[in-house]
Amino acid sequence: MNLAVFCSGYGSNFQALLDAVRSGKLKARIAVMVCDNPKAYAIRRAAKAGVPVCVLSPKLFKSRGDHERLIVGVLKSQGVDWIALAGYMRILTPYFIRAYRGRIVNIHPSYLPAFKGAHAIRDAYAAGVKSTGVTVHHVTEELDSGRPILRQRVPVRPKDTLATLEARIHAVEHRLYPRALALLARRARR
Ligand code: GRF
Repeated sequence: MNLAVFCSGYGSNFQALLDAVRSGKLKARIAVMVCDNPKAYAIRRAAKAGVPVCVLSPKLFKSRGDHERLIVGVLKSQGVDWIALAGYMRILTPYFIRAYRGRIVNIHPSYLPAFKGAHAIRDAYAAGVKSTGVTVHHVTEELDSGRPILRQRVPVRPKDTLATLEARIHAVEHRLYPRALALLARRARR
């Protein structure tokens, strides 16, 4: 598995993948980290780990298509065969999804199909549900709707604030994402 990880911000899930590769739990190589935000903290994580970074602000391009075509060119040049979206705040176009059909995965902070969208933790908290969760799923043209690879429930406790719930969900994410990718890597080797 020759992986590209896509980030837009803090990159804690990217860090969990870096750590899993380093410890041998995830038998993969992170060939490149792709980022759309030049200010993202994830860039520092990549630099520290010696992972090549491709930072391409979409503002520099005439269209989403132009932006993505350049990214696909970079991925092909690095021999990338799997893509892990890790807090990448852009919706991929059908062109991109076709280019890597079946080999793009995402992590989402809810037990899908509940609470799709960019504010899943906040929405679950506001809805007053007893449990939410984390899902690692395949990426298709429809947002947060591809087949799940692994899902885990996370209880919402009566004393939870949004911050404590967020922290518990992120801790689950950091375990679940490496496990899901390790599963895919094992299947790919068979
Ligand atoms: C995570 O909650 C992930 O599920 C969602 O965006 C957040 C990214 O956090 N897609 P980080 O950048 O990995 O810290």
